[in-house]
Amino acid sequence: MKKWYAVLGNPIHHSISPKMHDLWFQQNAIDASYIPIFVERDKLQETVVSLALLGCSGFNVTVPFKEEIIAYLDELDASAALAGAVNTVVRRDGKWVGYNTDGLGLLANIPNLSHDSRVLLVGAGGAARGIVAALSQKGIKDVTITNRTSEKASRLAQEFEVNEMNLSEVSAIFSTFDVVIQTTSVGMDSLETPLSNPNWTSSMLAVDIIYSPPETVFLKQARQQGATTMNGLSMLIGQGALAFELWTGIQPDQQEIRKTIFRHEG
Ligand code: ATR
Repeated sequence: MKKWYAVLGNPIHHSISPKMHDLWFQQNAIDASYIPIFVERDKLQETVVSLALLGCSGFNVTVPFKEEIIAYLDELDASAALAGAVNTVVRRDGKWVGYNTDGLGLLANIPNLSHDSRVLLVGAGGAARGIVAALSQKGIKDVTITNRTSEKASRLAQEFEVNEMNLSEVSAIFSTFDVVIQTTSVGMDSLETPLSNPNWTSSMLAVDIIYSPPETVFLKQARQQGATTMNGLSMLIGQGALAFELWTGIQPDQQEIRKTIFRHEG
């Protein structure tokens, strides 16, 4: 029987997930489809119950439901329990099992990431939490969190037993980091960057979770100073690829969809 999958969100019209998963189903000759579902803010539980009744095999969850969804699932994978949020749900033996592929999908696409990598995270909100959780799951311990509001960074750092540093102190040791991940929304609709006077070197990698615009000021400064850069498409496609693998057991090709999105965006 034809399988079907969905993404639940509010809003949902801009999601590229249907395009991405439909392409991967096609490329792998899987008879399945993937539909976006707009969910009213107070109708998440009813929607999840309906999806089970209608034979849905799995779904993604996006803003604003990634935390609330947990209450309506039967089991949580470690990735979701650690992150405190779910973006992927699998129907298994009549149960809804929640995962979080956001952080792990991003890390999977960072080249040369190893147990010894020194990682700086800028920001301490929900996105940062997902990435710190994934770093912890991968056994990457040399992690520092910096944030405009340092109390939030301290709380997150304490919870995951990593370091915290004031933004003003970070400048002095900035170039000792191998990877710097920008997790805030700064730069999405402004020409701002959360870092003042970063000192990039050519051995460093700058990662921004923002993909629109494709190059934020944070990434532009990094590129101009010789660092390697990676925008948020890697996270968007990486989380989708891991979700696809959870549903089908197949690791999809990420190149074709990258080209398709670029055409779409540009
Ligand atoms: P998300 O779930 O997308 O991570 P969030 O939980 O609201 O969103 O967190 C937003 C992050 O962006 C926070 O780290 C926030 O810093 P504060 O904790 O100081 O609020 C950061 N952020 C938002 N606007 C910012 C700005 N103009 N400059 C620096 N950091 C900013």
